[in-house]
Amino acid sequence: MDNGFSVGIIGLGMFVPDNVLTNKDLEKMVDTSNEWIIKRTGISERRVLEKGRPSSDMAYIAAKKALEDANILPEDVDLIIVATITPDYLTPSMACIVQDKLNAKKAAAFDLNAACTGFVYSMTVAEQFIKTGYYKNALIIGCDGLSKAVDWEDRNTCVLFGDGAGAAVLSAVEDGYGIRASKTGAEGGMGKLLTLPCYHFDEVDMEKRIHQNKRVIWMGGNEVFKFAVKVMEQSTIDVMNQAGLCMDDISLIIPHQANKRIIDGAAKRLKISNDRVIENLSRYGNTSAATIPIALYETYKANKIKNGDNIVLVGFGGGLTWAAVLIKWNKKDLEDKNE
Ligand code: UT7
Repeated sequence: MDNGFSVGIIGLGMFVPDNVLTNKDLEKMVDTSNEWIIKRTGISERRVLEKGRPSSDMAYIAAKKALEDANILPEDVDLIIVATITPDYLTPSMACIVQDKLNAKKAAAFDLNAACTGFVYSMTVAEQFIKTGYYKNALIIGCDGLSKAVDWEDRNTCVLFGDGAGAAVLSAVEDGYGIRASKTGAEGGMGKLLTLPCYHFDEVDMEKRIHQNKRVIWMGGNEVFKFAVKVMEQSTIDVMNQAGLCMDDISLIIPHQANKRIIDGAAKRLKISNDRVIENLSRYGNTSAATIPIALYETYKANKIKNGDNIVLVGFGGGLTWAAVLIKWNKKDLEDKNE
């Protein structure tokens, strides 16, 4: 659709709780070691939300910062999407809670469940609304409080996850910049490899859990690992092809932060040097839908993204799902508005 503008990011924000849980702390909780966790995952520590505090607080703070960064008011927001698998309530959605806290009275609001891929899915959904002229400004947030959903007795998963939120404001940007290509996909047949039950408790799924614990995440890590490397490579290639670019044209890849070995494995297959692939999972672990916007925020704030750079955001996770977007960065928007 050629309507004289593109859709891009005009504001970014993030939030992680102060509370740090180190690998050494985990050694006291389950049969694991700092060495194993670092060697097999690359994670050193993660953040954990204070007991009793709603996860929507994280989404709200990240969102508020993104609106300030974009220099727009809450009443200018037309759409709020929160990508999450750990909402405080199924209803009201986390997006409605954030809408109320921000007093973004005009905004439609809903949650999107695509697990760790949720933020990239949300970008693509919001892009369609803006491109058609239906909405002007969309606030999209990736927020997960996975510390509430892990089984703290299961060493296979509890060492991996952390809490956090990242947000972006999407709006019209100069034609030729912003989102240049996108790809979303799902492989529902592999869904039982990563489960977090809600109202139905499948017998086979329950058998795999410690003490048949119903309300926690279970993951077949090995198979998800192989899937992740494959789709991270393929969806990156897909968006590059769609945009008519090659790997030399890509300045940075910002992947979902699940495991350093997944990121390094996919980077090797894509033949891109490690310094062009962003990693921050040693400090936060896997914050699900929040990893990509947090990594994007930190990379931007560290002045590592230049105007005109092509960057790829690529996610994968529960569902199983995957998605990628290729953005031609237009840093001018943010710099101008930060002055
Ligand atoms: O964000 C959503 C997508 N999620 C992912 O992409 C995660 C993908 N999977 C992974 O990152 C990795 O598969 C894990 C980090 C989850 C596991 O690493 P792995 O190298 O695949 O380990 P493994 O599952 O093959 O287990 C190897 C051994 C096992 O012991 P045995 O059976 O060989 O005696 C595990 O019980 O390591 C054991 N193990 C641990 N040992 C110490 C598993 N977790 C731990 C642990 N500490 N925390």
